[in-house]
Amino acid sequence: MKKTAFITGITGQDGAYLAELLLKKGYHVVGGFRRLSTLNFSRLDELGIREKIKLVETDMLDASNLIRAVQEVKPDEIYNLAAQSFVAHSFKNPILTGNITGLGVTNLLEAIRIVNPGIRFYQASTSELYGAAAESPQNENTPFKPRSPYGVAKLYGHWITINYRESYDIFACAGILFNHESPLRGLEFVTRKITDSVAKIHYGKLKYFEIGNLDVKRDWGYAKEYVKGMWMMLQQEKPDNFVLATNENHSVREWIETCFNHIDRQILWEDKGENEIGRDVKTGEILVKVNPEYFRPAEIHDLLGDYSKAKRELDWEPHIKHRELSEIMLKADLEKQANPKRS
Ligand code: NAP
Ligand code: GDD
Repeated sequence: MKKTAFITGITGQDGAYLAELLLKKGYHVVGGFRRLSTLNFSRLDELGIREKIKLVETDMLDASNLIRAVQEVKPDEIYNLAAQSFVAHSFKNPILTGNITGLGVTNLLEAIRIVNPGIRFYQASTSELYGAAAESPQNENTPFKPRSPYGVAKLYGHWITINYRESYDIFACAGILFNHESPLRGLEFVTRKITDSVAKIHYGKLKYFEIGNLDVKRDWGYAKEYVKGMWMMLQQEKPDNFVLATNENHSVREWIETCFNHIDRQILWEDKGENEIGRDVKTGEILVKVNPEYFRPAEIHDLLGDYSKAKRELDWEPHIKHRELSEIMLKADLEKQANPKRS
């Protein structure tokens, strides 16, 4: 019997890769999307899987709509990937973020409790929970101290997931995933902003790009490897929480330097703080400018994940790290710039 998986946030980066993986595993995949004036299935189209997925209109803000969807879809597994996921945006839209990213999780868990508590549930928790972390690297036992409305909303989503596991015996897992990127990453996130800009500079379509804090560090992995970990969590005997990370971190500055290196250009940094710029060593052209507009009201300076529990219990391990990841993403953006009609 084919298993049915219901993925919320199907139009996002992880939704697309998870759908691709589950289709390969023989699942019947149903994707939840919210109604917009313009449909945005571009990632599913890019992977060539849109026609293979049943799409169901669902909004995390509407519990009745989620109950109806769970009744209709009859899933064996639900992956809750839907969220207002952009941290910077959450400072400007804290209430909306709280409603979608926080309370939305309860809406979906209630649908499971009411319709069929036997459904297995994955919640997309995040390294943003750690915030100003008291220790490094961070593991499943590190205390949480979120630093953004997004992080606080995800903290609620994390604990309500554990609460429904303990209260109603629902098989509910929380994956505490560190940053994971890909050619399908949204353009507003820093890695993709860099690879897209460097590709445009390479083809003479952009002179320079603006950036925020250059010295923050994140533990960046490859999204395709992380969605596999999500699926692995739901195949265990018991529900639990797992960190997925690479156990390496790199700064935004290193990302910029590495991406320019890939196209044989070197950056020389001048000045400090808000006035810092990056020049091409050979030509002297300004390629990068700091713009404080991209600074956050509260920043997380350094995140580093310890994924040893996932390795031990799930046999999950990341293989693609900073250099290879930046190469994959830059190559894809160079191709998109060279063949704009295909992108
Ligand atoms: P993403 O690309 O921003 O995708 C978010 C998805 O949520 C989109 O499909 C979006 O739909 C949907 N969504 C937003 N508001 C909704 C609503 N009210 N009702 C229904 N759907 C809604 O994010 P991602 O990178 O794939 O991340 C997937 C999940 O993992 C998110 O929950 C994110 O917070 C979490 N996470 C991500 C990372 C990471 O590094 N990528 C790390 C840890 C945790 P639209 O297309 O209509 O906007
Ligand atoms: N977006 C962006 N744009 N970030 C910048 C910029 C810029 O121009 N300049 C510096 N940064 C810094 C941010 O301040 C942050 O410290 C870091 O780069 C990464 O920013 P994002 O790529 O926006 O990701 P994020 O770490 O805030 O959040 C992502 O990862 C989380 C997991 O830790 C998102 O995917 C979240 O949904 C996810 O939970």
